[in-house]
Amino acid sequence: MINQNGSFGFYDKHIFCCTNERKLGHPRGCCAEKNAFKLRAYMKAKAKTFGIENIRINTSGCLDRCELGPTMVIYPDNVWYTYQTREDIDEILNVHIINGKVVERLVLKRNQNKLHKAND
Ligand code: FES
Repeated sequence: MINQNGSFGFYDKHIFCCTNERKLGHPRGCCAEKNAFKLRAYMKAKAKTFGIENIRINTSGCLDRCELGPTMVIYPDNVWYTYQTREDIDEILNVHIINGKVVERLVLKRNQNKLHKAND
């Protein structure tokens, strides 16, 4: 059955937040050392307070964008984000999940290999 967003998914949006953990000092780093567990938990709680329904916010293993983390991907949109703060999470929920627009400043582009700076 096709849902209201035109996809076949069980949820309207399925969000995967990498919480992969590596040993300290690993050359690629990891999302866990950048507060990914707490930010994912915050996202789940905040989605509830916003009254957002029919989405799923799962932890995931490594999404292979480690240097740019913490990272998440939202399906079925196939939009990838990097985020660092609760404010980033609030913006992703408000702009992307509630209003259906992409938060351009946080998007991880396909060929991107370093983080944007504030004035990029
Ligand atoms: S550790 Fe998160 S993308 Fe690899």
